[in-house]
Amino acid sequence: MCGIFGYKGKKVKLSCLLDGLQRLEYRGYDSCGVAAYNAGNFLCKKNSGKITQLKTNLKANLGNQYSLALLHTRWATHGQPTKANAHPHKSFKKNIYMVHNGIIENYLDLKNKLKGKGYKFKSDTDSEVAVNLIASHYRGSIEKAVFSAVKELKGSFALAVFSESEPDKVVGVRNKSPLLVGVSPQGYFLASDLPAIVPLAKEAVYLKEKQVVVLDSNKINIYDFQQKKVKVNKEKIKIKNEEAKKKGFKHFMLKEIYQQPKVLQDALNIYTKKNQINFNQLKLSKSYLKGIKNIFITACGTAFHAACVAKYFLERHTKIKIEVDTSSEFRYRDFNVDKGDLFIAISQSGETADTLAALKKAKKQKAKVLSICNVLGSSLVRESDSFIYTPAGPEIGVASTKAYTAQLFCLYLFSLYLATIKGTVSGREKNKMLEELSRVPFHQRKILKQTRKISAIAKKFSKMGCFLFLGRGINFPSALEGALKLKEISYIPAEGYPAGEMKHGPIALIDEYRAVVCIAPMDSLHEKMTSNLQEIKARKGKILAIINPADKAILSFADQAVYIPKLKFQEFSPLLVAVALQLFAYSVAKNLGAEIDQPRNLAKSVTVE
Ligand code: G6P
Repeated sequence: MCGIFGYKGKKVKLSCLLDGLQRLEYRGYDSCGVAAYNAGNFLCKKNSGKITQLKTNLKANLGNQYSLALLHTRWATHGQPTKANAHPHKSFKKNIYMVHNGIIENYLDLKNKLKGKGYKFKSDTDSEVAVNLIASHYRGSIEKAVFSAVKELKGSFALAVFSESEPDKVVGVRNKSPLLVGVSPQGYFLASDLPAIVPLAKEAVYLKEKQVVVLDSNKINIYDFQQKKVKVNKEKIKIKNEEAKKKGFKHFMLKEIYQQPKVLQDALNIYTKKNQINFNQLKLSKSYLKGIKNIFITACGTAFHAACVAKYFLERHTKIKIEVDTSSEFRYRDFNVDKGDLFIAISQSGETADTLAALKKAKKQKAKVLSICNVLGSSLVRESDSFIYTPAGPEIGVASTKAYTAQLFCLYLFSLYLATIKGTVSGREKNKMLEELSRVPFHQRKILKQTRKISAIAKKFSKMGCFLFLGRGINFPSALEGALKLKEISYIPAEGYPAGEMKHGPIALIDEYRAVVCIAPMDSLHEKMTSNLQEIKARKGKILAIINPADKAILSFADQAVYIPKLKFQEFSPLLVAVALQLFAYSVAKNLGAEIDQPRNLAKSVTVE
C-alpha cells in the first residue's frame, strides 16, 4: 500500500503538497514524511503517526514554497511504523531521496551486497535498500542510476526519487504498483492514485507497467525499462473534485452509511429507464452475454462478500454456473477459464493488487473481463473489457459501507439484465423485481431511522468478548460482512458462519458471555433459522436478531431485535441487513472509543500482495 505524492514545477506551498498527500491517506496512515527543495532551501521531515501530526510539526513551514518534493504516507510492511522507517529514505552515500510503495522481495540479498560495499542502514525497510542500490549506481545522472537499479529489484514497486546534486529532476518508476502523473500549468504531480491530484490537475498520464518517468525542467519523458522512449499519452481527468467533508456527521463512516439510499437511487437513475434495465454502454454484446457458459467472480474484503451474495442471485436467475473466490486465492489456483466465460472483478478502489493479478490471469486465458468498480480511471477499469461504475462517490471510511451496497445493487441489476437477455426470467417477473429494487432506498431510510435504537442495543453488547454472526442462503454472506465490519473497527473477535454449520463446531463457543447476531428475515429458510436460534438460546447465548417486524417466533426468545422491512423478494434483503449491521458495528466501535474511520493496521486500498 502506502501513498506516494511528488511534485516538480513552479513553486507551490508546502501546505498544498501536504494536502495532496492527505488525499492518499486512505492507503496507509502509520507514518509519513516529506523531502522538499527550492533554490538551495532543503527540508526533510518525518514522523510516526498521521499527516495531521506532520502538519503540526511543520507548522512554521506550511507557507514556504517548493519547486520539488517527495511525500509519503506509509502502511508498514517491513519494519515497525517508527520515524526511522518512515519515508522518504535517504541513501547512505550520494544524497539521494526516495519514496516507495510495494515490496522489494530480494531486499535481504541486496542489503547484504550493499553492506559488503560499505553501505550502512538506519531502518528495517526494504525501501532503504532500494535507495541505496540506486545510489550505488549513481554517476551523475539519477535516471541512469534508476534504470540500472530496477534491473536488480524484484517484487512490486512504485518509486519516486531525486538527487540533491540534480535538484531539478524527479524520477518515477512503476512496476506492479500504481503511479501516475498529474499535468497542470504549474507543473507535474506524481501520485499513487487519481484522487490525490484531482483538485490540482486537469490531465493525467497513467504510467504502464515497467515504465520510468523523468520530470525534468518542466518536461515529461517516459521510458520503458530498456530506456526506450515511449509516447506520453495525456488523458483528461473525468472525475469531479468532491471535497471530502463529514458534513455534520461525527465520522465519515456514519456519513457514508447515511448516503446509501441516495447512492442506490443514483444507480437506479443511471441503469434503469421506464422499467427497463439499461446496460447498453457495456462493451459486451448481447449475443456474447446470451452464450456465457460460466461466470467467475473474484474480489477481496467487503467486495468479496458482495460477490458471494451475487452468486446466489445470479445462479438462481440466469442458470449459469457461478464460481466465486477471493482474489488472493483465485490468482494462484489452476483454474480453467475460456473464451465463452465471463470473469467479473469487483473492487471499490480498482487498485487492489490481488484482484488486478487475478484479472490479468483470466485475461490471459481469453475470458472476457467485466469490472464492477467505484473509481473511474482506476487500474482495474483500465484493464477490463468493460465495466459497471458503482456511483457511490468517494468512500473515505476504511471500512466499506456504501460501496458494498452499491456493488450489490449493481450486481442485482446486472443479473436481471443478463437473465432477461437469456430468457431465464420473464418480463413480468423482472418488472416486479425492479419495482421492488426501486423501493429499497425507501426501506433503507426506515432502518436509518432506528439509529438511536441500534446504538442503545450496541451499548448493551459492546462488552461481549466475542461475536458470532449467523445467516443462511443469500444472507450467509451478510453474516460474513457483519462480522468483518465489527472486527475491522471495534477489534472484537467476530466470525460469520452459515447457521446450519453451527452444530459442526461453533456451537462449542456458546455460553452466556458470547453474543450471536442472527440474520433471519422471513424467507424460505426462516424455520431452519428459528431452530438454530433455539439451540443457541438453550446454551444461554445472547441473541441479537435481525428480523422482519412481527416475527413473533424469534421475538419470543431473542434478547434484542432490529427490524428490517419485509420485502416481496427477500433475495434483496442483504441490501437492508447491511445497513443494520453497519450501524451496529459503528455504534459498538463508538462505544469503545475506537478510531472508526482509520482503524489500526488497515488501509483503504491494498496494493501489496
Ligand atoms: C481493504 C479495505 C476493505 C476492502 C478491501 C478490498 O482491505 O480495508 O474495506 O473491502 O480492501 O478493496 P477494494 O478496493 O478492492 O474493494
